[in-house]
Amino acid sequence: MRILAIETSCDETAIALLEAVGGLARPKFKIIENLVASQIKVHAPFGGVVPGLAKREHIKNLPLLLNTIEKKHNLKQADLICVTVGPGLEPALWTGIEFAKGLYKKLKQENQKVRLIGVSHLEGHLYSNLLAGSASRKKNKKGKEMKFPAISLLVSGGHTLLLHMEAMDKYYIIGETRDDAVGEAFDKVARLLGLPYPGGPAIEVLAKKGNADAIAFPRPMLYQKNYDFSFSGLKTSVLYYMRQGAKSAARSTKDIAASFQKAAFEVLVVKTMRASRAFRAKIIFLSGGVAANRTLRASFRAALRAARFRPVPLFSATEFPTDNAAMIGAAGYIAFLRKRGRRLVARGNITM
Ligand code: KG4
Ligand code: ZN
Repeated sequence: MRILAIETSCDETAIALLEAVGGLARPKFKIIENLVASQIKVHAPFGGVVPGLAKREHIKNLPLLLNTIEKKHNLKQADLICVTVGPGLEPALWTGIEFAKGLYKKLKQENQKVRLIGVSHLEGHLYSNLLAGSASRKKNKKGKEMKFPAISLLVSGGHTLLLHMEAMDKYYIIGETRDDAVGEAFDKVARLLGLPYPGGPAIEVLAKKGNADAIAFPRPMLYQKNYDFSFSGLKTSVLYYMRQGAKSAARSTKDIAASFQKAAFEVLVVKTMRASRAFRAKIIFLSGGVAANRTLRASFRAALRAARFRPVPLFSATEFPTDNAAMIGAAGYIAFLRKRGRRLVARGNITM
């Protein structure tokens, strides 16, 4: 199946072309093109994403990206067009949806079998793990063997979700953040520390040089017997610490970044490991922008080494953590097979 996927939920305009085979049992992907036009520079002066600007940039970038792909590939052979319908910024989502509809109409004239479906951005992150190795044929010869049950931690700028996956197409949310998403906390703390947007990568770099045990920030909800999270209090602790620190000039920004990061990741790792044990997970999936953080992945690897219920392979989407369209194509393939394509209407707040 040849899939063209479009993603415009936030500040990345992305189009991907991929091939999928294997069905639900053993999905296998070959990424042919995976283009992302990042708007980071446009939004950076505002310290966050400005919806109107995002829309304008998507309108400008979508035809440029499509044109680049059309020059190299014959899109008439596409079987399926997938487009993100939510969650995200509605003006941005509509741009992608309208563009996809236009493209569908055009392709349909010459290729009756082409289909168009809406895809959840969160399912994109969830299934991004299926793409591991798919940029190179060698690594992905047989496709990924999926083992279930799995526990999936999805950590992005908008979401922090813990999911129990019984099967490829059967998942339940078992925990989520009650306030800020972890990526959002990184972005806000970065702003407090005077670091550029997006804050996650900047904090990761700074934290490497700092002492993570310098400041004992709280570990919110760590000991509560549920799988929920909370990061807004942690961010406030950093703010209070900095106000006090201004008087005592106690710690450097590096130490604050490292200590904050350690506190946030400890809660993520401990609660995910707890869920893995409770649900007898055979795999832990890790996805979303924050999964790009090497320290987070190292923390998971260390926790897995120390756990008594080994082996639980960590199956982290190292190549595709931040927003892209290939993951929308992967999720679209699964949704299509399940006959669960979404309506072509922007839905800013869908939960999964
Ligand atoms: O998945 P994503 O690209 O977009 C959303 O769907 O939200 O995630 C973006 C989030 C931002 O909050 C960004 O600061 C965070 O992921 N992020 C990171 C890192 N890279 C991106 N957080 C921590 N460490 C990183 N290396
Ligand atoms: Zn995302």
